[in-house]
Parts: sequence; C-alpha cells; structure tokens
Amino acid sequence: MKKITIAANWKMYLDEVSSIDFIEKLNAEKELFSNKDIIIFPSHTCIRSVKDRLNIDLKIGMQDCDIHNKGAYTGSTSISSIDIHSCIVGHSERRVIYKENNEIIAEKLGAVLSSKANPILCIGETLEEKNDNITESIIESQLSILPKDLNDRNLTIAYEPVWAIGSGDVPSNEYIHQMLSYVKNRLKSLYSDTDLDNIKLFYGGSVDANNLNDLIGIELIDGFLIGSASANFEKFKDIVKQLKL
Ligand code: 13P
Repeated sequence: MKKITIAANWKMYLDEVSSIDFIEKLNAEKELFSNKDIIIFPSHTCIRSVKDRLNIDLKIGMQDCDIHNKGAYTGSTSISSIDIHSCIVGHSERRVIYKENNEIIAEKLGAVLSSKANPILCIGETLEEKNDNITESIIESQLSILPKDLNDRNLTIAYEPVWAIGSGDVPSNEYIHQMLSYVKNRLKSLYSDTDLDNIKLFYGGSVDANNLNDLIGIELIDGFLIGSASANFEKFKDIVKQLKL
C-alpha cells in the first residue's frame, strides 16, 4: 500500500489568527497527524507563524511564487524568501483570475526548480473545454512547459479539473483514471524511468472526507490537493483519519 499525500491548499481562507489556531489544534492531536505525508500551504503572510508553532513533522509549502528571485517587484513573493518544502504553480485560480498563461507558469516552474522547493504543477480543463472535447489537448499544452530533464528533482502534477473545484461535482474514478493515464503516458514520452520515479500524480477538486476513500482507490493516485475542506480543522481531521498510512 502506498503512502498517500494530503496537500492542504488553504488558499486565502485563513488569516494569521485562524492559521495559528488551526496549527495549535493540530499540535494537540499529535498522534493522528504525525507520520502522515501532509503538506500545508498557508497564505504567504502566515507561513512564518505556522512554521514557528508547528510541533509535528508536517511539511509547509507556498501557494504560488514570483517568476523572479529578487528585486524591484512590489507586492510579490520570491520562492527563495523562506525555506519551504513545496510550491504550487499554475493553479487554475492563478490561470483564470490572474490571467497567468503557460509562459508565465513555465517561468514560475523554472524559479521553483532553481530553488530547493519541490514544484506542484496544476493542470486541468474548464467546463467549456470539457464540453468542447478538448481536454486532452489542453492538458498536453499545460504539460508542454515541463523541462526536458528533471535532474533528479521531484515533481508533482496535480490534475484539477476547473469545474470540479469548489463545486462538489467530483468526476467519476474512471474519468480521473483516464486523465491521469493520459498524463502518465505524456510523462513517459518525456522522461526516463528514473525521472518517472520522482514524479507524483495528485487529484484535486471538491475532495472531502466523504469521497476520499473512494478516490484513494484510483490506481495512479499518489495524493490529493484539497482546498476548502483542508482549511476547516474538523473536516481536515476527518480526512486525515481515513489515511491508512
Ligand atoms: P476545493 O477542494 O475547495 O474544491 O479546491 C480544490 C483546489 O483548488 C485545491 O488546489
């Protein structure tokens, strides 16, 4: 049985006080949360407080980063501004709301790969693209920004259909499996077996404690990127309780 990763994308749900409160609740239930593969992605401004208070061996990541490392970029945050485990790039909220295209996301991916952090590249089709039957070509273009060589770096591809995010509309296991197989085949055409061993596949979109058990059954799944249910301590606890490893 493989160890499933739970990546908690808190988005902009929790302010500093609520983030600290969440971490104190986690610390109080050390037994449940220890030895699990959990990565928490707080808002940038809360990362320091979360890191300082966390008493359990969970990992901390960044939800996004700038394409630059340092300099005159008012209001932006560099990947090298703080020591973190992972960084999400290409989330659909960045693509849709902040109009980030594949070129910008490629630069962000490059910035993460030039740091010590592990990139999580989000991909997925909108409802319109799904209805137009162009999901595979959309995924192919989103994957086209991947580097030729991973140079022993870890990479996670998170398949998050945009229509499943925050909607409660979770695709069937067969649909997710079909998409992950497509992704896996693209990756196989790009990378050596050694590189492939360093790549994980996640699913994200309306995952909660009620559907997690079913979704874990998808053969290619290594983990889940979870939004709203991960920012509510009781819901998050119910999710983590279902992990066998
Ligand atoms: P929800 O779990 O709220 O649908 O969000 C998924 C997501 O966007 C994770 O990155």
